Order: sequence, then C-alpha cells, then structure tokens
Amino acid sequence: MTARSVYPQHSSVDGGRLAVGGCDAAELAREVGTPAYVVAEDDLRDRARAFVAALREHHGPRGSVVYASKAFPCTAALRIFAEEDLSVDCASGGELHLALRAGFDPARVVLHGNAKSEWELRAAVEAGVGTIVLDGGDPERLERLVPAGRRQRVLVRVTPGVHADTHEHILTGHADSKFGYPPQTAAEIARGDWQRLDVAGLHFHLGSQLFDASPFRAAMGTFAGLGRFGTYDVGGGMAVGYTRHDRPPVPHEWVGDLVAIAHELLGTDCELLIEPGRALVANAGVTLYTVEDVKAIGGSEHHGLSFVAVDGGMSDNLRPMLYGAVYEAEIADRVGDGDPYTVVGKHCESSDVLVRAASLRDPRPGDVLVTPVTGAYGHAMASNYNGVPRPPVVFAKDGRSRVVVRRETFEDLTARDA
Ligand code: LLP
Repeated sequence: MTARSVYPQHSSVDGGRLAVGGCDAAELAREVGTPAYVVAEDDLRDRARAFVAALREHHGPRGSVVYASKAFPCTAALRIFAEEDLSVDCASGGELHLALRAGFDPARVVLHGNAKSEWELRAAVEAGVGTIVLDGGDPERLERLVPAGRRQRVLVRVTPGVHADTHEHILTGHADSKFGYPPQTAAEIARGDWQRLDVAGLHFHLGSQLFDASPFRAAMGTFAGLGRFGTYDVGGGMAVGYTRHDRPPVPHEWVGDLVAIAHELLGTDCELLIEPGRALVANAGVTLYTVEDVKAIGGSEHHGLSFVAVDGGMSDNLRPMLYGAVYEAEIADRVGDGDPYTVVGKHCESSDVLVRAASLRDPRPGDVLVTPVTGAYGHAMASNYNGVPRPPVVFAKDGRSRVVVRRETFEDLTARDA
C-alpha cells in the first residue's frame, strides 16, 4: 500500500510498517538511533525536476528554479540540487559557504539578506556570485567593494505591500516588512547611475506556506508600475501539505499560475526566477523518535489527552512552537488511525508540544514514532537546547540508507569552549 501523500514519494505501508525510500522506518531508527531526520533522496530529485519542467513548459528556457537553501541547508541535498541544474538562494555567508562546498557554480548563486555584513558582500564578490539582491545599505557598499573593471549583477528587493494569507511570522511582503525597499525607492536605485553594479531587475518574496497565487498578481502589478526590466525574481512561498487534510498546490499548476500572471503583467520575454524552499524538501523528510513515556494524565487544557513523550522536540522541530504549525504522527510499525494523544518532547518547557491530538495506535515506550513533513526548516532551525545533540540526517533510497550528516556528540557540545 502506498503511504498517504504527506509522506515522501514512493513511501509504502506494509502490514502497518512504514518504509521510506525503501527502508523500514522502525528498523532504520534502531540502526541509526533517534531522533533522526530521514530524507527520501529520490523525492528531492523528483520535486526539483517537477519545478524545472514546469518552468520550462510554461515560460521556456529563460527561467531559473532557485533553491532557497535556508529550508534545508544540508550539503548532500544541495549537491543533489546542483546536479539537477538548479540555482541556489543563499541568505548568509554561511549558506554561501555550504552552497559552494556542495559544488554550486558561483554564477548560479543568488545572495539575499536584509542585513548583509561587509564581509559577506566581499566574500560574494570574491567568489564570483552571479546575483546579489540589494536591500538596505547594500548599493553603495557593494559599489565600493566591486573591483575596477568588473560589474556585479544585482536585483533590487521591493516591498510590494501585499498582505498574503499566512502566519504573520512568515509574511515578508507586507508594507511594514523589514525586507526590501518601498517601490519608489527601489525604482530610484534601479535607475541609479552605478559604475560597478549592473541592475538586472527586481525581486520580491511575499511570504511562506501560501496556498494561492493570487497575491502575486498585486505584487507583480507593483513591479509593472516601476518600468520594464529584463529579470524578475518572484521569490518562493508555495505551500506544502503538512496533514492529510491540507490541499496544497502542485508545482505544475503553481508555476503555471505564476507564469501566467507574469506574462500578463510583465511580458513574455523577461527572465523569470522562482525560489521554492519548503516545496522542494518538506515532504521528502520525516523525523523518527523513540517513545520514552506514555503518561495517562492531562487536564482540560490538554483536552484530557494522555501524553506521549519522545526523545526530541523543540530542539529538532521548532515550527509548532513558532508558528503553531500542525503535524501528524504515527507509530512507525503500527501505522493507521488509533486514539488521540498529545505528542510532547523532552525539553524543559511546556511549549514543547510537537503534535496536538495525534492519532496513534496503542503507543508504548520503546516504539518508534514518526512525524512526516519535517524536511523543511527542521534541521535548519535545530538547536542544542537542554544540551541535546542535534540529530543526524539520513538519506534513504532503494532500500539503502546513508548518513549524510552525523549525529552531534557530547564532544561537539564542548568543541567550541575556548
Ligand atoms: N526566497 C526568499 C527571499 C525567502 O526569504 C524565502 C523564505 C524563500 C525564498 C523560500 O520560501 P519557501 O518557499 O520555503 O516558503 N522558518 C519558516 C520559514 C521562513 C522562510 C523565510 N524565507 C518556517 O519554518 O515556516
């Protein structure tokens, strides 16, 4: 039986046992330990190919799929996306380091950031980064840093003043956003008489986990009002399904909708960049935990549900606490509907709730519990809170697994002591 669509592509459930990338999840947990991020390698490739094919089909060759590496800044994943001919969005010097280490051609790097340090700009120029997105004080600083005789290709980030429908913490294109310049300021910068900057066009990023492309119409309308440019970068933001009840867009339709709006408002002959992060990686990953305790208490504030406590929590998945993000969970070798439980982590605070009302079949200490759709912004935002070593990343493919990021050790916890 094929596992529900929130699991990585080609996952299966046989006799209630979940397999990801052909690997039995419960067995894999015992092999590599828990918590562990498990990523289906083929799923990453398939989604990359789906975005590339969609952009090519709808817009032709003058388009780039730019992987927003913040979603899963893992060298092995970056390597796969470099092989699949994607470009890469780096939001810091550290992400730039990872992308270059993974083998990205510097020409395919788009450097973002609203508070770039001078050393980050310098590192980008020295590495030969293809595109730097201007925001804040960048234009003058960058003009000074680019060596004589060279011109650095740049985009100007616009704050389009569009309030998309998503959690306010992951909204970025609204009028009082810290990102970008007001439209008229952006236009002035773009028309500026720069000696060493080559302004290719404009950029916005509206926000994340967007189910509907309609806010892009207003934002591209803002672009259209600022004059004609050769290149438009419309950011990322495509929603993914975190639960079986979500109805997220699919890349083919999403890209088709964006391109249709772009062609209508900006013309058909521009270069178009899209920057999916979450949509490339979220559903490719699951997290495996061990159930440490089942606590049959709970007052009215927990709807009377018993707790299932696992050996990870907010140190490996901060999204439920930051954004109220809703996840599902299952017992990896007894997949299927059961009774509702509150899945909590091991951290010393009450916000450490991973899943409210997870439907679990007879959870017991020692079981392996799996939360699907943790491929994006889990590993990326992990911490050592409570001295918990960060989990490994394990790639699974065709029944074989390989550790691509090892588990942190206690030695790692003291490795920076000076
Ligand atoms: N491009 C730019 C300039 C961005 O700032 C972002 C995300 C993306 C692309 C990719 O957006 P995506 O396709 O992944 O939605 N930590 C939050 C997400 C913050 C995203 C910030 N920027 C979360 O866990 O939901």
